[in-house]
Amino acid sequence: MSEQGQVTHDDFDWEALRLEAVAARGHAYAPYSSYPVGAAALAEDGRVLTGCNVENAAYGVALCAECGLVSQLHITGGGRLTHFICVDKAGDVLMPCGRCRQLLFENGGPDLLLMTVSGVRRMDEVLPDAFGPDNLA
Ligand code: THU
Repeated sequence: MSEQGQVTHDDFDWEALRLEAVAARGHAYAPYSSYPVGAAALAEDGRVLTGCNVENAAYGVALCAECGLVSQLHITGGGRLTHFICVDKAGDVLMPCGRCRQLLFENGGPDLLLMTVSGVRRMDEVLPDAFGPDNLA
C-alpha cells in the first residue's frame, strides 16, 4: 500500500497492457459520442483480452468496451481476470462505468487490480460491498 492507500504493484507492466487497450480502441465504433474506448485485461493464465465500445443509432444500446472484453474472455476459455485498464481517445485511463464495474467484479472478483485515475486499485475499492455470485449461492 502507498501512503495514499493505493495498492502498488511495481512489477506489473501496466504500460504494455495500456498499449493493448490503445490498440483495441482503434477498432471502436463510436460515431455518436465521438468517445472511443479501448479496454485490455490479463487473465490468470496469461491471456490478454481486449474490447472496444460499439455504439448504435438507438443510443441506449451501446456496448461498452468492457462488454466485448468479457465476451472474449469466455470465448477463449473463461477463467479469471487479474489486471484491467481502459483508455479514452487520448490514451488516458478512464474509470469503468458502474455497469462495467459489475461486469468486471463477476469475472475478476474482489482481487482484480485496475489501473484507475488515482493509481492501481483493487476491485473491492472501486465497487465496495458488491452484489455478486455469493449472494445467489
Ligand atoms: N464507455 C465504455 O466503453 N466503457 C466505460 O466504462 C465508460 C463508457 C463508452 C460507452 C459509450 O460508447 C462512450 O463510452 C460514451 O459514453
